[in-house]
Amino acid sequence: MSRDAVPQPVRLGDYRPPDWLVDTVHLDVRLHPTAARIVARLALRPNPEGREGSPIVLDGDELNLKSVTLDGAPLAGSAYVATSTGLTLLAPPQRALTLEIETVVDPSANTRLMGLYRSSGTYCTQCEAEGFRRITYFPDRPDVLAVYTTRIEAERDEAPVLLGNGNPVEAGAVEDTSRHYAVWHDPWPKPSYLFALVGGKLDRITEDFVTATGKTVELGIYVEPGKTARAGYAMDALKRAMRWDEEAFGCEYDLDVFNIVAVADFNMGAMENKGLNIFNDKYVLASPETATDADYANIEAIIAHEYFHNWTGNRITCRDWFQLCLKEGLTVFRDQEFSSDQRSRPVKRIADVRLLKGHQFPEDSGPLAHPVRPSSYREINNFYTATVYEKGAEVVRMLKTVLGDEGFRAGMDLYLDRHDGDAATVEDFLACFADANGIDLTQFALWYAQSGTPRLAVSGHWDEAARSYRLDVAQTLPPTPGQSEKLPMVIPLAIGLVGPDGRDLPLALDDGSNAERGVLLVTKPRQSFVFRDVPHRPVPSLNRGFSAPVKLSSDLSTADLLFLARHDSDPFNRFDATQTLALSHLLEATSAVRAGGEQPAPDALVEALAATLGDTSLDPAFVAQALSIPSEADVAREIGEDVDPDAIHAARTRLRHAVGEALAPALEAVYARHAPTGNYSPDAASAGRRALRNTCLDLLAAGGTAKGIARAQAHFGAADNMTDRFFALAVLAHAAPDAREDALAAFHRQFRADPLVVDKWLALQAQIAEPQTLERVRDLTGHADFDWSNPNRVRALIGTFAGLNPTQFHRADGAGHDLVAGAVMDIDGRNPQLAARLLAAFKSWRSLEPVRRASAEAALRRVAGKPSLSPDVTDIVSRSLD
Ligand code: PHE
Ligand code: ZN
Repeated sequence: MSRDAVPQPVRLGDYRPPDWLVDTVHLDVRLHPTAARIVARLALRPNPEGREGSPIVLDGDELNLKSVTLDGAPLAGSAYVATSTGLTLLAPPQRALTLEIETVVDPSANTRLMGLYRSSGTYCTQCEAEGFRRITYFPDRPDVLAVYTTRIEAERDEAPVLLGNGNPVEAGAVEDTSRHYAVWHDPWPKPSYLFALVGGKLDRITEDFVTATGKTVELGIYVEPGKTARAGYAMDALKRAMRWDEEAFGCEYDLDVFNIVAVADFNMGAMENKGLNIFNDKYVLASPETATDADYANIEAIIAHEYFHNWTGNRITCRDWFQLCLKEGLTVFRDQEFSSDQRSRPVKRIADVRLLKGHQFPEDSGPLAHPVRPSSYREINNFYTATVYEKGAEVVRMLKTVLGDEGFRAGMDLYLDRHDGDAATVEDFLACFADANGIDLTQFALWYAQSGTPRLAVSGHWDEAARSYRLDVAQTLPPTPGQSEKLPMVIPLAIGLVGPDGRDLPLALDDGSNAERGVLLVTKPRQSFVFRDVPHRPVPSLNRGFSAPVKLSSDLSTADLLFLARHDSDPFNRFDATQTLALSHLLEATSAVRAGGEQPAPDALVEALAATLGDTSLDPAFVAQALSIPSEADVAREIGEDVDPDAIHAARTRLRHAVGEALAPALEAVYARHAPTGNYSPDAASAGRRALRNTCLDLLAAGGTAKGIARAQAHFGAADNMTDRFFALAVLAHAAPDAREDALAAFHRQFRADPLVVDKWLALQAQIAEPQTLERVRDLTGHADFDWSNPNRVRALIGTFAGLNPTQFHRADGAGHDLVAGAVMDIDGRNPQLAARLLAAFKSWRSLEPVRRASAEAALRRVAGKPSLSPDVTDIVSRSLD
């Protein structure tokens, strides 16, 4: 990689307010497949807070400039400098003025899916983070807020539907032509990244929503022709989200219409453009035949997430991209709370923590680690990460844990009130909680600045004579890229002391205080908490509800964990106790495999699982979670270094086999008891029963018996919904090589016309843990249903291979690394964002054993050495190798 290919970093400390502001934007967009014309009329004025006498510097990216006028008069060539990446007016008059800029772009050639592009013929836009500059020259930064009016014109046949931000103003035919137009006006000032337009042949479903104060909003969901029947669940989720936001946060919708458009080609999940959310169709379209319960839950969460951005993101936006977590972490927290209220809170918490540990923890302990609010970046597109989103949400959740429900709500109310209309910072956000509660959050703010996952070591000491119990707590934060020294964090540690009868003891600290709401505030490197009136040795239940995103180690014995797995009143820790038992078994078993010795028997784990399985008072969805054996990645993360994925796979396969065998009668009984009773419904309770039944099916087949496989085949054949059908197919694909190909072929025949289901078929095959998978994945890239230009297809096949098939991605011969590195280099020329995200799958490469580590490093170096890499891939590869 040549040195000048490395983009220069942008630093938080260099922030300066914009020199020029834009009050209004009038856009006139004439859609055309290869030459769309955009006339932008910008009302600019010098920013009193900017530098006096500044030039006007506008961003651009791959733009073709046709003309520019200032207050109606053409500009002299010497008055400005225009390139494809920027337009600078060298010495503009220092007063309010109007610029009119005409650009031409080619939507069909836009394979990066940023700016104005076409997805299956539909014109659509994606502007976050820096895509608006691919439509017109503009100060493309989130602290420039303007009121937009957009006129969109197109061939009526090609794009009968024309949508923009805000409210519809006017529409009609362009006289004497086959064209028509629509005008949209958005009264709320917004940054350019929230701009959007859509033009295409789309079908729509629509419903009215009446807000808390009685205003009627017309809701519309637009999908590819013929697919409206699959948009109903998204509409239902939207209405529930709108009501919930009024009730939980007092946030009411603020336009006459709210539209959602589903497109097939999209780099991310969805986008919160003001009044016009654009979605990856995977997070809109669902029917019982094509979507799993997990798909339904994701749709509900993402519809809500984008809607919630209307206040946390749009009405209050970010001052600069360093503040990305201000909208993302907060909005993820809000969508998590919504799903918790709509479904089961404990089960949602378990799922969220699994996601956090599965994605964010590895990121935070590898070369791509960065703070929730980074202080510098080379490519902002690479910071839409699990750390900004998921850890960002954890930080907001900790704030709530520290302040309590009321204190948190008071801070949120103040934030929404004080900063409405602002482009805000993390400091602004925290100040609201500090002011509303009269407390100092200086140390708490370190959660935004220090990267890495804190480690907490806890040990308990019961003093029988004094009837007291002491918890000794020590925190450390390991060094991470760019941060060798760390300060102690504020760690809200929710705990319980569980007595011999399984009940929580009252928590009375010896300084006379109660551990408020059961939360200990750990603020120092070492701290002790002493509880009085503890008549028996309790079992401590630590970090209840996963109150802090830390790696906890404790002196709990196997017997203690078994006790918690049965009795803890905190459902999360009941789950976690079982997981801890499973993980410690798997660590031991993996070492045994590597040493060529005997694997230990998983007695304690089997005992815990049997108890959970036999407790009919438990929610089936919870039991399904508690029964799931930690993933190979979970084990690898726990091992941390010198990882041999084959040994982990062998140990885990043996364990699943042993559990399936040992619990067979109980699993069969629970399987039978949860047979479907009526028509499919995606509600949480029904989904929970399916999850439990399918988990039993899986463990029974993992026993490897003919009976287990036959049951899975019957389940596959009898399924009347995608959840059951696909789960059974997965069981067969993994556990029954002989039955696999027929089942895969049957599934493909039935669903080949449906790309979102084809993605499931591709992803499943990419996960098979056997050496032939490499060839299979290669062959599938040549399959008629695969398409390198569609991000969903690429993620399903290549992304799943790299992310969910550790033994084959990390093959000892390096062929898995080669496959992914090769795909990254191919894709980079077309879609750098997609390429960079795939490459990030190498993030834990340093924790591999030496042979695989060397092969990963070689693959990364090959990528680094490729001429003309995008800034996106350059950034990931250079940080990965640093
Ligand atoms: N802002 C989107 C969200 O809701 C994510 C996104 C980022 C989409 C960048 C497109 C491009 O999280
Ligand atoms: Zn978001």
